Amino acid sequence: MSETNRKPCILVTGGAGFIGSHTVCELLNAGYDVVIADNFFNAKPEALDAIREITHKDFVFMEGDVADHEFMEKIFSAHKIDAVIHFAGYKAVGESVAKPLMYYRNNLDTTLTLLETMKKYGCHHLVFSSSATVYAESESMPLYESNPLGTSNPYGETKRMIERILGDTAHADKDASFVCLRYFNPVGAHPSGLLGEDPNGIPNNLMPFIVKVATGKIEKLRVFGNDYDTVDGTGMRDYIHVVDLAKAHLAALEYAFKRTGIDYINIGTGNGTSVLQIVEAFKKVNHVDVPYEITERRPGDLAKVWADTSYAKRVLGFTAEKNIEDMCRDAYNYGVKHMK
Ligand code: UD1
Repeated sequence: MSETNRKPCILVTGGAGFIGSHTVCELLNAGYDVVIADNFFNAKPEALDAIREITHKDFVFMEGDVADHEFMEKIFSAHKIDAVIHFAGYKAVGESVAKPLMYYRNNLDTTLTLLETMKKYGCHHLVFSSSATVYAESESMPLYESNPLGTSNPYGETKRMIERILGDTAHADKDASFVCLRYFNPVGAHPSGLLGEDPNGIPNNLMPFIVKVATGKIEKLRVFGNDYDTVDGTGMRDYIHVVDLAKAHLAALEYAFKRTGIDYINIGTGNGTSVLQIVEAFKKVNHVDVPYEITERRPGDLAKVWADTSYAKRVLGFTAEKNIEDMCRDAYNYGVKHMK
C-alpha cells in the first residue's frame, strides 16, 4: 500500500483490557490499523482471540511493559504510529490506597515513557483514559468539565497528575493534540459475549458483583447504604455501556486528528441510576434473582455522581446509545459464559 493510501495506525496501550479490547474492535471495524501493547497484568490473551473473532480482522500484538523504553522503541521503530490511545495503567482504588508507590510508579512511568517515545518519533495525537474520579466532591450534579478537581485516593491522583502532564506537554508542543476522556462508570460487555470484565477475586464494583451474585458465585449483594438523599436512598451513578465508551474513543481520535491542543471531556450518559434501580433492571431483563441486603455506607462513597455530557456532544458529536437494560443483559451474558 502506498504511503498516501495508508490507513492511520493506532497504538493501543492496554489494548487487551476491558475498555481497551472493546475500543480495538471499534477501531478495526472503522478501518484503522492497530498495534496493541499489553503486558497482561490485568488482562488475558483470550481477549485477543475474541477481538479477531468479533471483527474478522487482524492487528499487531506486542507483549511488554509500556514503561520500558526499549519496548516502546521496538514498537515505534517497527511501525509508523499515527496516534496512541493510552489505557495501560493500574485501576483499583482500594489497592492504590494500600500500595500507593506501585500506582504512582506504574501509572506515571508508563505515561512518561510513552510521551518521550511519541516525541522522539514525531507522533502528536493521543487519547487518554482518564476518569470522573478527578473531580472534587460536589453537592450539585451534573459534573461539568469546568468543575474543580480534587482526588481522594492514589489511583485518582495518578489520573489527575497525568492530565496535568499532558496539559503541560501540549502547552509546550504546538503540534500536540491530546484528548483526556473522563469516564463515569463503565459497565456491560460486548453483545457477542466474547469480551467483558472479569475482575480477579471478589469484585469491588457494583456490576461485576451483581453478576457474581446472579450466577450463584456470591450469596448476596451488599447495598452500601439506603439513607442517601436520592430517589430510593441508594447511591446513584452514571453507568455507561463499554461499547458506547469504546465508540467515544473513536470520536475522540477523529477529533484529535482535526485540531491541536488539549481537551478534557466527560464520557457518560448524563443520567443517574441508583443501586436498587440497577438491581431491578438486572432481575427483569435477565430473569434471575439478585438477593441483597442493605448494609452500612461504604466509606468514601458519594450519594450522586453523573456527567454533564453536552461538551462531548458538541465537540465529539458523541451521545451514548445503550440503556441500563442493555448494560445488565450484556454483563450477565458475559458473566454466564466466562466468570469463574
Ligand atoms: C468506583 C471508583 C472509581 C472508578 C469506578 C470504575 C471508588 C471510590 N471509586 O466508582 O474511581 O472510576 O469505580 O467503575 O471506588 N455498591 C454497592 N455494593 C457493592 C458495590 C457498589 O452498593 O458491592 C454501590 C456503591 O456504593 C455506589 C455504586 O454501587 O453507590 C457504584 O459503585 P462502584 O461500582 O464501586 O463505582 P464507584 O464507587 O462509583
